Amino acid sequence: MTFFQAPRGTRDIMPGEIGLWQYIEDTAVRIFELYNYHEIRTPLFEQTELFTRSIGSTSDIVEKEMYTFSDRKGRSLTLRPEGTACVVRSFLEHRLDKTDLLTKLFYRGPMFRYERPQLGRFRQFHQIGAECLGSRNPMLDSEMISLGIHLFDDIGLSDLTVKVNSVGCAVCRPVIREQLREFLGDHLEKLCDDCKRRFDKNPLRILDCKKPECQKYTAGLPTLTICQDCGDHFNAVQEYLDAMNINFEVDSHLVRGLEYYTKTAFEIISPDLGAQNAICGGGRYDKLVETMDGPNIPAVGFAFGIERAVMLLQQLSLTGKPYEELTLYIAGTGHQASIQAISLMDELRRGGLRVDTDTAGRSLKAQMKSANKLGAKYVLIMGEGEAEKQVGQLKNMQSGVQETVPLSQVAQALLPGLPCTEEADAEKDKR
Ligand code: HAM
Repeated sequence: MTFFQAPRGTRDIMPGEIGLWQYIEDTAVRIFELYNYHEIRTPLFEQTELFTRSIGSTSDIVEKEMYTFSDRKGRSLTLRPEGTACVVRSFLEHRLDKTDLLTKLFYRGPMFRYERPQLGRFRQFHQIGAECLGSRNPMLDSEMISLGIHLFDDIGLSDLTVKVNSVGCAVCRPVIREQLREFLGDHLEKLCDDCKRRFDKNPLRILDCKKPECQKYTAGLPTLTICQDCGDHFNAVQEYLDAMNINFEVDSHLVRGLEYYTKTAFEIISPDLGAQNAICGGGRYDKLVETMDGPNIPAVGFAFGIERAVMLLQQLSLTGKPYEELTLYIAGTGHQASIQAISLMDELRRGGLRVDTDTAGRSLKAQMKSANKLGAKYVLIMGEGEAEKQVGQLKNMQSGVQETVPLSQVAQALLPGLPCTEEADAEKDKR
């Protein structure tokens, strides 16, 4: 039989894996709070133009990776391929630019890119990211990197490399582009088709090409000349990183796939991720707010892929929070018992206990087997006889001790936090 399958490039996050996701998200929220970031949630789709204008018309994302569709009124909408443009849209829509405080926001959720799926690369993937709007200070570029490293450290990922570069600004970018065209012009015919197109429109992207025929020519390129202002900024970023003892490599070929970056660009990579080795990417984008018709407000941010963080944790055999086991399983037979069971479960769950029962009308023996599979600490057996007397047989599954308990006292018998051991039972008897 063939069932429906999740669409190519998407996947289910099953209960066995979700503990890691919750662990990563909980850690990230805790760390973001330490740096005074607040959570924002934006829609999963936006006007298409938001992305074409911000991410840039020569980027792979805009050229070939967006999930774009028309709604019933013919408006062009796109599933968000990343979060930065959405945060900037929201920042302006809610006039957060009017405050004189820094705006520090973080977000988490699914992003969508029509990429060729491979290990660590999906069409629906999840990012956790942060954006800080309102300052040009290089201290914040370094703080972004340190925030990322702090977060990965706390998650338990330490074998990571930070790569930083300066991609220049509106003043020096045209010069860098010209420099590149000069260096690569003689080899244009030997570059891949994508890079041939990039040569005119955005030659910086050629540095990012992973194809060996292009790398052969880009590998030997001299460091590109950025302007004085970008140079000073980049030096300051490195000074701040040194002050925090953060190891980093300057990689003069690091350019990002999104076109909004100015000055600092960075990536955090892991040797254990395979070809898609970036767990995190980010940088400064001082012109993006203006590009979106807003005032001249500089900003810096980063995002990391949760799937890639999960992959690395799994390689370390970490599983996150263990599957929480049931405190009580109610094994009952008959209508009267099920009425009592549903009311008792309601009371116990409201009291904070994990409780479940059988709803398939199976035999007591089959229900005891389920209780075992679910790891229930206690089982309350309620046959017809017990139901009539408003009692149940409470069995401690670890010790095997079974006692008759009035239903009105089950909650008391299972006080949360009470360990499920014979000693604890003996202690309870004494009371
Ligand atoms: P990005 O480098 O495109 O940057 O994505 C950031 C991270 O998301 C990557 O390092 C990777 O871990 C993950 N990622 C990207 N694409 C995929 C995919 N197809 N499958 C799985 N994981 C993926 C941005 O998105 C920028 N908005 C980051 C930023 C925020 N810059 C400034 N602020």
